[in-house]
Amino acid sequence: MTEETAPYGAGAAGNAAAAPGSPTIRRVRTHHLADMKARGEKVTMLTSYDMYTARIFDEAGIDILLVGDSAANNVYGYETSLPVTVDELIPLTRAVARSARRALVLGDLPFGSYQGSPERAYETAVRFMKDGLAHAVKLEGGAEMAPTIRKLVDGGIPVCAHIGFTPQSEHALGGYRVQGRGDTSEKVKDDARAVADAGAFAVVMEMVPGDVAEQISKELSIVTIGIGAGAGCDGQVLVWTDAMGIRGPNDGKLPRFVKTFADVRGQLLSGAQAYAAEVKAGTFPGPDHTF
Ligand code: KIV
Repeated sequence: MTEETAPYGAGAAGNAAAAPGSPTIRRVRTHHLADMKARGEKVTMLTSYDMYTARIFDEAGIDILLVGDSAANNVYGYETSLPVTVDELIPLTRAVARSARRALVLGDLPFGSYQGSPERAYETAVRFMKDGLAHAVKLEGGAEMAPTIRKLVDGGIPVCAHIGFTPQSEHALGGYRVQGRGDTSEKVKDDARAVADAGAFAVVMEMVPGDVAEQISKELSIVTIGIGAGAGCDGQVLVWTDAMGIRGPNDGKLPRFVKTFADVRGQLLSGAQAYAAEVKAGTFPGPDHTF
């Protein structure tokens, strides 16, 4: 972890309190991500929706924490990401931003909150920055969103675009399908060029063939982050609940591109079962836990 003096005499990373004498941690900025691409260092991104995962992923050195609209089906119990609102995402974004000392915190603009006009998008993005304390925002769409991206960037808001399969357009795209196979690869490439030209600092590419994503990553100077887009991207993102194994047998099939790196569900389940067993047996609380 890089250490340096924070600007303006702020606490660690400018918002979280640093213990006296502890080294100050430097916040990941968009230009650091560009530097990482330039030196061939991969960028890591995970979703996070709360204080503890933000702290843990930050401690693990994850570069970007995305407060994704996937909170819809990972926090709020909706079936898709479509119903989640700005008012539901802002408190989660604020919790993550207040808890991460190093990672760049990316707020995800939900469906219907930005597509109407660049002005509407700007107002929504400002809420994510002011109320949610996000450091940047993400929005879905390619060439058609270029004027919106330009408006936000001109207004001082760093933007990460999201192209390929865009979950907010699930119904328009006819379900979860790989985008950019065969002849349609040119559309994905044009989208990537358009969002880069409009000033996006990064682009998430979801469910795009690996060779197409690799070509785009080589061509663009901005950072590409893949999810189901192969190893040729400049970085990777996964939804943390998928990556850390929290889904149960009735929570739907994991997409093929997900790898599970931990068994958080198993740990929580056995912990809760052990707690319940001890309470039922009268062995918890014991003398050590009693005043
Ligand atoms: O909301 C989200 O979690 C996302 C990722 C799938 C990139 O947009």
